[in-house]
Amino acid sequence: MLPQIVLPKRRYLVRFNPKRVPHLFTDVLVIGAGITGIRAALAIDPNLNVVLATKDRLKESNSAYAQGGIAGVFDPVDNFANHVADTLAAGKGLCNRAIVDTVVREAPARIRELVSMGAHFDQTDGEIALTQEGGHSHRRVVHALGDATGKEVMRALIEQIRSAPQVDIWENTFTIDLLTHGGECRGALVWNASHGKTFVWAKQTILATGGAGRLYRETTNPEIATADGHAMAFRAGCELRDMEFMQFHPTVLYIAGSSRHLISEAARGEGGILRDCTGHRFMPDYDSAAELAPRDIVSRSITRQMEKTRHHCVYLDLTHLPKSLVLERFPHIRQVCTQFGLDLLRDQIPVRPGAHYMIGGITVDDEARTSLPRLWAAGEVTSSGLHGANRLASNSLLEGLVFGLRAGINASNAACGESDQFTALALKTDPMQMLPVEGAFAGHEEPLESSTLKLDDLLNSLNSEMWRNVGIERNDSDLESALRQIEFWDRYVGPHEFAMTKGWELQNLLLVARLMVIAALSRKESRGTHYRSDFPGTDPTQAEHIRLLAQP
Ligand code: SIN
Repeated sequence: MLPQIVLPKRRYLVRFNPKRVPHLFTDVLVIGAGITGIRAALAIDPNLNVVLATKDRLKESNSAYAQGGIAGVFDPVDNFANHVADTLAAGKGLCNRAIVDTVVREAPARIRELVSMGAHFDQTDGEIALTQEGGHSHRRVVHALGDATGKEVMRALIEQIRSAPQVDIWENTFTIDLLTHGGECRGALVWNASHGKTFVWAKQTILATGGAGRLYRETTNPEIATADGHAMAFRAGCELRDMEFMQFHPTVLYIAGSSRHLISEAARGEGGILRDCTGHRFMPDYDSAAELAPRDIVSRSITRQMEKTRHHCVYLDLTHLPKSLVLERFPHIRQVCTQFGLDLLRDQIPVRPGAHYMIGGITVDDEARTSLPRLWAAGEVTSSGLHGANRLASNSLLEGLVFGLRAGINASNAACGESDQFTALALKTDPMQMLPVEGAFAGHEEPLESSTLKLDDLLNSLNSEMWRNVGIERNDSDLESALRQIEFWDRYVGPHEFAMTKGWELQNLLLVARLMVIAALSRKESRGTHYRSDFPGTDPTQAEHIRLLAQP
């Protein structure tokens, strides 16, 4: 399959006069403060200066919402070969075997390291307790606070990073674009309410901005997951790949008035069953692994059963499980359900699938290196080859730890070797020559008044379009119609210059939506999370990545 070449509307989202913007110099800039960004920042040599920029508060990251846990081999009846085999089976021919092997082997060490940093994982008889999730042949998912693993892991990591004196934490700071010169990344243009726009020049930059779930009407992701890293990397010239693969989680709380809260796969791992509105347990009709089939199969089966029964959701039933198990393992889910008058011990939980995890992203090698020199990337914003066409449950926090560490060490080593020549070079560069933005704004030079354009309305429309036409099942005519619609919106939203986060996020979402649709149109087969109702089979000749690159 040939790479797709797409021309972005322009290189930078905003105009700026480099002579008037404040300039700041650092050794390493880390963008994003979930598990990956913080793990990376902690790996940087304490003699270097680090800026850690995050668009919200430090505690608001997608990682903090993770429930299920972190996969790693701890059980003596399990082994690395099993974990590798399960990951490859889920990935449906698109995993990089060597990457899978090293990540799986590193898992126990990375998890123990979290323990040494103060994270408390649940235990049974003094040993780390393990649960099972879909696609895993053994119990190997480490968890905390019953069903709030991300919360506990992020608590420990945030405590560590707050006591690292070399790390300057910039909260509520939106990264608008990466700065590039001479084909290399030189840092980023960031914005916050106190300082406005600032150039952060960095010898090395690490991108760890997470996912893109907010493209969809139904999603488990918090509001911050707006594909910013994918979009800024693409504009800066990085290669992206596998953008057709969005993972849908089968069980998202579906109650009018509630946020779309994740109901952990561990609930099915511990024996929860799915019923339709007539009470029928339907998963065995679709797959012999029933509720523990891979997520793409469970999500599609739920959708089909909802269509069959003409009902807006299905139900997750835990009422047959021992009361003590439910109370111990799912305190957080129980608390959320209680707010809506549901008691897990007596009531079934209304659920349906939602967008959960962006599998595609910036292509990185085994050292977290991107195709843009001086830029490293890790975690959900990347495609490392670990997940292939479908991510195995609880392999994502693991990837964040392993690749965050690698990105941190490599960026640190590279920055150490550079002394201060870089700063001198940056100061000598004529900024106007370096940042040719004027042409890119021709015809659209007036900042758009926010009142002219209803951004919330546009976002809702984009969310519905993606859910309807680029969702769990796709086909050529729906994808073509989504592309036309997105390009239409992008024609009037894309060229404008916004002065606020919501506008930049919308521009990023529109760009990434377009890339996802183009990739989904190009893959004329079904594989992993990408299910084409017009090409329901897997075609062995398409076992390749679809790569996307902006035309220079
Ligand atoms: C879950 O708890 O079901 C989410 C785990 C994951 O996405 O890996």
